[in-house]
Amino acid sequence: MAKVYDMQRPAYDAVARTLHWLTVLLVAMQFVIGWTMPDVHKDTQPVNLIAWHLGVGATLVAVMAIRVIWRLTHWPTPDELPPLLSAVSRITHVLLYATLVLVPLLGWINASSRGWTVRLLGLVPYPALSKPGSAFGHEMGDVHGILAWVLFALIGLHVVAALFHRFVLKDHVLQRMLPHAGPSRDQG
Ligand code: HEM
Ligand code: HEM
Repeated sequence: MAKVYDMQRPAYDAVARTLHWLTVLLVAMQFVIGWTMPDVHKDTQPVNLIAWHLGVGATLVAVMAIRVIWRLTHWPTPDELPPLLSAVSRITHVLLYATLVLVPLLGWINASSRGWTVRLLGLVPYPALSKPGSAFGHEMGDVHGILAWVLFALIGLHVVAALFHRFVLKDHVLQRMLPHAGPSRDQG
């Protein structure tokens, strides 16, 4: 395990770090708004907190699209963790990406089924992903709420892991993603 303490790990590049912390901010807002906004029923109008949930959600969709493209074209230098830890970390990150894409998409599908238009910054309309009144779109709203809990659990695991690296293993994993981390050596 000595390697874990010795290693000097390069940071993610500045774009990846900016996208990571922007995602954290937007996802935190989505949880707070999603859990405090009124229940959505058949005749509910997309106003106030619900309008905020759609608006912040539209930004998150755009940020995640850019983030996935960036990630696929700019691979960070592999970590130097023991194989098991590295595998757990990679699996968690893949699951995080999957839920970060799926949860917003399902919310968007549900919004479309309610006849609500999702707009980026209140201006640019996104296409409808399901027909107004669609039963499928309605059900995806339930899946959206359930999968949000899965995302929440993954984030909890992820944050505990980050703090474990920083305070127990005392390695450089957290520094790889901090805003002021040194210059990156990504392989993009
Ligand atoms: C990671 C991002 C997101 C999180 C964490 C999140 C979280 C939530 C939560 C917790 C609820 C309440 C669920 C319930 O009480 O059962 C909710 C409902 C909803 N969200 Fe999201 N949301 C996200 C992204 C989005 C996006 C991008 C959209 C649309 C563009 C969206 C549209 C909706 C709609 C329409 C509902 C009402 C669903 C229903 O009750 O049938 N959400 N969301
Ligand atoms: C909404 C909350 C969060 C989400 C959705 C999230 C998501 C992610 C994702 C998807 C990755 C993989 C990056 C990649 O390989 O491209 C990642 C990496 C990372 N995150 Fe987070 N994160 C969140 C919060 C946090 C917090 C609060 C911390 C610090 C306490 C943190 C620390 C890190 C670190 C250090 C890495 C790099 C891990 C490594 O080098 O292997 N994250 N995060």
